[in-house]
Amino acid sequence: MELKRIGVVTSGGDSPGMNAAIRAVTRVAYAEGLKVLGFERGWEGLMKNVSRPLSPRTVGGILGLGGTILYTARSPAFKTRDGVKKAADTLDLSNLDGLVVIGGDGSFNGALELSAETDTLIVGVPASIDNDVYGTDETIGFDTAVNTAVAEIDKIRDTAISHERIFIIEVMGRTRGFLALAAGITAGAEVILVPEIAVNEDDVCQIIESNRVRGKKSGIIVAAEGVGDMRKLAEGIKKQTRSTVRLSVLGYAQRGGSPTARSRLLACLFGNKAVELLLDRRGGMIVGMQRGRLVAFSLEKSCMTERTLDLSLLKLAGVLAT
Ligand code: F6P
Repeated sequence: MELKRIGVVTSGGDSPGMNAAIRAVTRVAYAEGLKVLGFERGWEGLMKNVSRPLSPRTVGGILGLGGTILYTARSPAFKTRDGVKKAADTLDLSNLDGLVVIGGDGSFNGALELSAETDTLIVGVPASIDNDVYGTDETIGFDTAVNTAVAEIDKIRDTAISHERIFIIEVMGRTRGFLALAAGITAGAEVILVPEIAVNEDDVCQIIESNRVRGKKSGIIVAAEGVGDMRKLAEGIKKQTRSTVRLSVLGYAQRGGSPTARSRLLACLFGNKAVELLLDRRGGMIVGMQRGRLVAFSLEKSCMTERTLDLSLLKLAGVLAT
């Protein structure tokens, strides 16, 4: 049977480039003669059957827009069996042959649950500022978030140098350190703290002290939010090193803004590949980029496996920031 109609949904935390992915999915699908339905507010839209038709024209002008025109939501109701059933019913009612889920690992876990309840083929497009999806080296929006964080850290560096202060700058990343590591290394942070490694206050203070001895009187500590409350660490550093320490939480700005060219390119390639997979009737997959090559990867394996952080980069970051 020929593929006729597909759906697309953005779910979980938004990330810059989600719109570019919606545009790519819609335009490639149309070029292949498929109709596209966009579900609103993530899984909420599937459970409540709230959607609108998308066409090449309705996705015009969104390539460079942050956020998602389909809206997104955190959806506790979808975590129940009843919620998943409702979403599966919507897919049947809407006569959808395929569904493209644009989101991060939480959304993919939902997609896996849903795929067990429906014949509609499901393909995942990784989009998250956390970059914590197994099966792809990079998610849509990660590069943008790193650039946003680096731009802010550069500014804070100016005031840190002027006042000879130590700054702890907290970045997002949920329970993982991908964003902190990438932002830290590219902003020249003296210390990078990630949830994957327990914080040792004495080690941090030792780096600050030895930098001071060598004439470096200010310092930037980039900490992933998953490391925990940084106020205690700030107090500890203040006491041990007698430095002035300030804490700056970058927050939700990291989720917004116009996607970088790199995030847009990933969105274009991933969106195209997702539709190709559906046309080949290959559901239960995610698309990804591995070592510069576009790949299709098992959705189940992606959900079951944790992506590892390259801890050797932490050591390199330390050497580069001496
Ligand atoms: O997953 C993206 C992310 O921004 C995380 O980095 C952060 O921990 C979380 O979402 C915040 O979630 P919420 O938008 O529900 O506050």
